[in-house]
Amino acid sequence: MTWTTIPPVLPVRPNTMKQTPDKSFARGIFLTLEGPEGSGKSTQIPLLAAALRTAGYRVASTREPGGTKVAEAIRTLLLSGPSNEPIMPETEALLVLAARSQHVAHVIRPALARGSIVLCDRFAHSTFAYQGFGRGVSLSWLQTANRAATGDLVPDLTLLLDIPVARGLARRRQARGGRNRLDRESIMFHERVRRGFLTLASRTPRRIKVINADRPVEVVRAEIEALVLGWLRTRQRRSSA
Ligand code: TMP
Repeated sequence: MTWTTIPPVLPVRPNTMKQTPDKSFARGIFLTLEGPEGSGKSTQIPLLAAALRTAGYRVASTREPGGTKVAEAIRTLLLSGPSNEPIMPETEALLVLAARSQHVAHVIRPALARGSIVLCDRFAHSTFAYQGFGRGVSLSWLQTANRAATGDLVPDLTLLLDIPVARGLARRRQARGGRNRLDRESIMFHERVRRGFLTLASRTPRRIKVINADRPVEVVRAEIEALVLGWLRTRQRRSSA
């Protein structure tokens, strides 16, 4: 699977086909995974997607910045960047938002309209954490611009995979070898980003669930799977009540 293609939609869970169609699933579910560098999102997303498909849900996995050809081109610019021209914080913010606008319009909204669970590796909380808390761009300006870029699309649930900065950066170095433009930022920058994520989670604890990602992959996988399947069951119960 490439990041620019949405995997084929699977049939809905057989036992739900006999029931009245579930309204929440008629408009899809938007689930985002967030976290500092090396928190393991990209490892966990395919595992969660597989578990959800096994449980009978339709799933589309995607990532930010990226998910469409234009947005992936912006990602390359953002992560490789020209070495001799510093990218200004506001430029960086506008680039991630431009990529998001394409992604929401061409990938996320159509997948939600098909009734899929959309699993997205990073979304708006990354903009608030990296460009807001990390770079110091005004949070209220970012919120307004993000609303314009997304048409007010807000995730139904966000999982914040939290890991101490030094541990995450070490994992990242092991996994990849090479580092991108943002990985190369100072430890202080990455500390501000992590604190930003945790601040956002403490402000909206019902929508953002913090997962301790500094544990073995299998332990984190099991916690994520139980949390998401439980959350989906509660949501289905509420919408059919
Ligand atoms: P990653 O998803 O492989 O970690 O790489 C994406 C990088 O882009 C990561 O360093 C975080 C950064 N980013 C932002 O700075 N702002 C954003 O809004 C998003 C979505 C990502």
